[in-house]
This record gives sequence, structure tokens and C-alpha cells, in this order.
Amino acid sequence: MTEPVTTAKRPGPAPTEAVVRIEGLSKSFDGRLVLDDVHLEVGRGRIVSVIGQSGGGKTTLMRCVNLLERPDRGTVEVAGDVVHSGGRTVCRDLPRLRRTVGMVFQRFNLFPHLTAVENVVLAQRKAGVPEQEALERAVTLLRRVGVAHRGLAQPDQLSGGEQQRVAIARALALKPEVLLFDEPTSSLDPEATREVLGVMRELAADGMTMLLVTHELPFAREVADHVVFVDGGRVVEEGDPRDVLDNPARARTREFLASYGSAS
Ligand SMILES: Nc1ncnc2c1ncn2[C@@H]1O[C@H](COP(=O)(O)OP(=O)(O)O)[C@@H](O)[C@H]1O
Ligand SMILES: [Mg+2]
Repeated sequence: MTEPVTTAKRPGPAPTEAVVRIEGLSKSFDGRLVLDDVHLEVGRGRIVSVIGQSGGGKTTLMRCVNLLERPDRGTVEVAGDVVHSGGRTVCRDLPRLRRTVGMVFQRFNLFPHLTAVENVVLAQRKAGVPEQEALERAVTLLRRVGVAHRGLAQPDQLSGGEQQRVAIARALALKPEVLLFDEPTSSLDPEATREVLGVMRELAADGMTMLLVTHELPFAREVADHVVFVDGGRVVEEGDPRDVLDNPARARTREFLASYGSAS
């Protein structure tokens, strides 16, 4: 893959060990196929952005990666371990998978009764990180996402943008090998969106591997190495962001992008 010539882009790492590899993944709910033979790969240090209409299966796809959802068919491999194959979950070390894959949700999902710091400490404590170390790491991460000064606040005292940045700090707490973002800015106002995208841009610049569902197409164009358009549970088109977003080959992709433009 050639590297786009923009300054925001990180230098691409040497090609590529897959951190996430999905092959032939299918999933039905109540007899209705919502993912149909999906193949997708995220190389180490790469950023893959999934785009598509609501209901197209994007969240289900993300949830299959960290086994919040069980695929019916296909293989899911994370950091070299097969975690799902042929309709069976074969992950033998779920705590390890949880450490390897960090996830940021649309609605933050912070623990409401815990402070920001405690939200970032909790997963570390469960993973056996010594308390002092967990605390120091929490403060460092909250500083990194720009909310250290809000460390003692509880989620309902934080703005949406602050909550999402705490959620990103939490997702980073166990030093994951890949971060999954599922529409991380969809419930945020424009200013909070800008803050959160700023943090994600810095993670990208630091070389974090990411699988990202987003409606922020300019952001996808800027940071993603690869864009995947999913529609009706199938990968319709994928490739370099400049091809898929600016010069799509498929009529369905063009239709999606056009409707999208008029909606925003
Ligand atoms: N747990 C579930 N039970 C039944 N249907 C579901 C479940 N989760 C998702 N679906 C359905 O699967 C389809 C894809 O959903 P989803 O993966 O959330 O799409 P997207 O994230 O692209 O909007 C939708 O029709 C949704 O209603
Ligand atoms: Mg979704």
C-alpha cells in the first residue's frame, strides 16, 4: 500500500503482522443475516475505518472481535490467537483478550458511581496491577487525554467530551494492542467531537493500531490507512480512503456517500 502524502499521516510501519484478522465471518439474529462472509484485517500500527449506514452490521462486527457477540461462522484472530472458529469460541484466555483489545463505545459506558480516576484504575486492579502503579498510570493517561484536572469528578459531573476522553484513558489502561472505537463521537456536540478526534489523532500519530467505526468521513480520510464500506452485512468496497471516499468504484458506495453528504 502506498502512503498518502499528508503530514498528519504517520510513517507506515513495515508490512504487516495482523493484529485483527477476520475471515468469512457470518452472523444472524433470529434467522436474519446481519453479517455475511466478512473478511477484514488490521495490521499492526494500522488504522482501519468501517463506514456504512445504520443497521448495516458495523457494531456487530466490532463486538465479534472481542467476543461480546458470538459469530455463527468464520474465524476471528486477535494478536496471533484464534479466538473464534467455525461457530465455536476457542478463546482459551478471555482475560488476555480483554487486555489485548481496548474498546470505546458510543455512549462511554463509564461506571457512574466511580470517579474518573477510579474508572481507569478499576480494570487494572482486576488485572492484578499493584494499586500505586494503577493510580499513577490512571493519572498519566488522564493527563494524556487532557482531563487530569477532572480526575476526581464522577461521570455525571463531566461533559460528554470529557467522559469519552476518560473512556479512552480507560481503554488504554491495560496497554492494549488494538483499540476498537464504535462511533465514539456520535453522541457528542461539535466541540466535544473535536476534542475526542484530537485525542484519537494523537493516538494515531503514536502508532496505535485501531479499528474504527465512524461517521466522521473527513477524519477517516485523514487518519485511516484503509476504509471499509459495509452495507447490509457485506463488505461492498474497501481500499485507500482517497479511493473509497473520493472516487468510489461501486454505485452503492456512491449512493451512500451522496445521501450522507445531504444529511450532514
Ligand atoms: N442482539 C441483537 N439481537 C437482535 N438483533 C440485533 C442484535 N444486535 C443487532 N441486531 C440487528 O442487527 C442489525 C445490525 O446491527 P448493528 O450491528 O448494530 O448495525 P450498525 O452498527 O451498523 O448500525 C440491525 O438490524 C440490528 O437491529
Ligand atoms: Mg452501530
